[in-house]
Amino acid sequence: MTDRIVLAYSGGLDTSVAIGWIAEETGAEVVAVAVDVGQGGESLDTVRQRALDCGAVEAYVADARDEFAEQYCMPTLKANALYMDAYPLVSAISRPVITKHLVAAAQQFGATTVAHGCTGKGNDQVRFEVGIQTLGPELKCIAPVRDLALTRDKAIEYATANNLPIETTKKNPFSIDQNVWGRAVETGFLEDIWNGPTKDVYDYTEDPAFPPAADIVTISFEEGIPVALDGKPVTPLQAIEELNQRAGAQGVGRIDIVEDRLVGIKSREIYEAPGAMALIAAHQELENVTLEREQARFKKTLGQRWTELVYDGQWFSPLKKSLDTFINDTQRYVSGEIRLELHGGRATVQGRKSTTGLYDFNLATYDTGDAFDQSSARGFIDIFGLSSKVASERDQRLHGTPDFSAVNSLDS
Ligand code: ARG
Repeated sequence: MTDRIVLAYSGGLDTSVAIGWIAEETGAEVVAVAVDVGQGGESLDTVRQRALDCGAVEAYVADARDEFAEQYCMPTLKANALYMDAYPLVSAISRPVITKHLVAAAQQFGATTVAHGCTGKGNDQVRFEVGIQTLGPELKCIAPVRDLALTRDKAIEYATANNLPIETTKKNPFSIDQNVWGRAVETGFLEDIWNGPTKDVYDYTEDPAFPPAADIVTISFEEGIPVALDGKPVTPLQAIEELNQRAGAQGVGRIDIVEDRLVGIKSREIYEAPGAMALIAAHQELENVTLEREQARFKKTLGQRWTELVYDGQWFSPLKKSLDTFINDTQRYVSGEIRLELHGGRATVQGRKSTTGLYDFNLATYDTGDAFDQSSARGFIDIFGLSSKVASERDQRLHGTPDFSAVNSLDS
């Protein structure tokens, strides 16, 4: 029986050419798999037909939008995941869900190998292949751009020579990856990190410099998950989609950073994630109201580790799963409402409401009705500062100063 290779198919030039290219280079049959994670653009039927027209023996399309929103975006929201304090993991979380469908398709169609269109310089190759190794240890991986010398020029030449039904003339200078959680843009003139992004870089967001009137949205959460917008029940997918529109119209969620890739390269990235950034702002503030102080502090550290693991392609790793258990446990009381103002590039919290929160008006108030016993503060402070005070007395005794570290730094 002829060997079969499952190819992660986007419908674009590179992966369309890859179908025939892989077949010629390896002698295998190619099964194209396209996964809808809310990237928009062409219909999946069109994409499926193109794969067949380009020579795929089978073409399989999966609508993974709800799955992606519920099982990938929501955990990212619960973790308030921002890699390098900025990037909400847009591409990093789509790779594991795509991988799941690739591995399932490989098993269904009897393939021995999975192929993807990544280069050898990025994070995505790692995310795909670590995921594939984990979910389908029997499968091999191949990347035609990296392993079979499929360059951009050769792709255009091949598509023209073979009359493939794919646009070869449209010159987009950028490498773009998008899904419902956001959009990533790199390469082209953005590689000069002094260059500012031009208008044509953006698609999910309007220019925040010229915003329409402010948009006030109330987001209801249950256990860390958005369940209603302005009182209207929504699924996670609907919540993200609606906020992409509303926050996007206000230019919320534009990000421009130099980022540390896992492979050691620093790269310039532009992201747009209006819905994700609005949701994270709201969720984070609801946690401020509902999480106990030490739990909140620890969750921040742990959330950062979770974020780095996911960025680094460790979605299916044991540590990531263990951290999920902790994070889910913290979400038990993260329920209530956040009122957000979306305006001019910013998502600003204006109001909070929670019946499971820890904010106690009677403890917090400076007005009459104060339930906090201020006389306890003195004794608390005496004991809280005691160990430093004892150490300082020693320094005074031995060095004639209560702050020996200051003397030390003067000496050097
Ligand atoms: N640098 C980002 C990441 O590693 C985005 C990669 C997006 N891929 C692309 N082809 N533009 O998650």
